[in-house]
Amino acid sequence: MKIAVTGKGGVGKTVISALLTKYFSKLGDTLAVDADPDSNLADVLGVEVEKTVSDVVDELYMKKYEIEDKDRWFEAKINEVIHEDEFDLIVMGKKEREGCYCYINSLLKKIMQKVVDYYDYVVVDCEAGIEILSRKTIDFVDAILVVVNKSKLSRDTAERIKKLVKELGIQAKVVVVGNKGAKGDFVIPFSEKIEECLELGKPLELFDDVRKSIEDLVEGLKS
Ligand SMILES: Nc1ncnc2c1ncn2[C@@H]1O[C@H](COP(=O)(O)OP(=O)(O)OP(=O)(O)O)[C@@H](O)[C@H]1O
Ligand SMILES: [Mg+2]
Repeated sequence: MKIAVTGKGGVGKTVISALLTKYFSKLGDTLAVDADPDSNLADVLGVEVEKTVSDVVDELYMKKYEIEDKDRWFEAKINEVIHEDEFDLIVMGKKEREGCYCYINSLLKKIMQKVVDYYDYVVVDCEAGIEILSRKTIDFVDAILVVVNKSKLSRDTAERIKKLVKELGIQAKVVVVGNKGAKGDFVIPFSEKIEECLELGKPLELFDDVRKSIEDLVEGLKS
C-alpha cells in the first residue's frame, strides 16, 4: 500500500504520516518519505538523518563537469539517502538552489519510482498545497489522503486537491481524513499525548488514543 498524505498547511499531515509509518512498520517493509522541503517528519519519528536527497543533488551540481552519466551517478548515490531504522526514511530536503528545479525534480521522481517497489508500505508526507501533485512526483501512490481540520480553508484546499487529482487523471483512491475530530471519510481524534510529545519535542508513538482510528483508516483504504 502506497499512500501520499496531502492537505493545507498545519492540518496534521506530518503527524498522520508518522502514525501510519509506525503502524505499517510492524506489518512489513516500510518506507517513509519526507517530501516537504520544510521537513520535520524525521524529528517527529525520532530519527536523525545524515543526508537528504537535496544534499546529493547539491553534490551533483558541484561535480557536474566530472560526471558523464548523471542519472547513473545519482542512482548509485541513492542508498546514501535511505536511512534504515525499524522503517526506512528518505528526506527530500530543501529545494532552494540555482538552476532549473525541473531537472532535479525529474531525477527525484525517477528515484522514487525505483525504490518504492521494494517496500510493502510507502508513506509520503507531502508539502502543503498542490504542487507535488501537479509535478506528478507521487504518481505511484494508490491512495491520497487529504487531511482537513475544522477550518473551511482546509476543506477548500481539499476540494482543490480532489479536482486536480481528477484533472491529472491520477488513478489513486482519494479520501478525506478529518484530523482532531473534524469531519471526513475517516476521523483521527485529538490526542493529548500527541500534543504533549510535540510540545516537548519527543518522537511520536502510535498511542492508544489514536491507534483504532489509524487501523480503521488503513482497513478503509483496502476496501
Ligand atoms: N491528532 C492530533 N492530536 C493532537 N494534536 C495534533 C494532532 N494532529 C496534529 N496535531 C498538532 O497540530 C500541529 C500541526 O501538525 P503537523 O505538523 O502534522 O501539520 P502539517 O500539516 O504537517 O503542517 P505543515 O503544513 O506545516 O507541514 C502539530 O504541532 C501537533 O501539535
Ligand atoms: Mg508537515
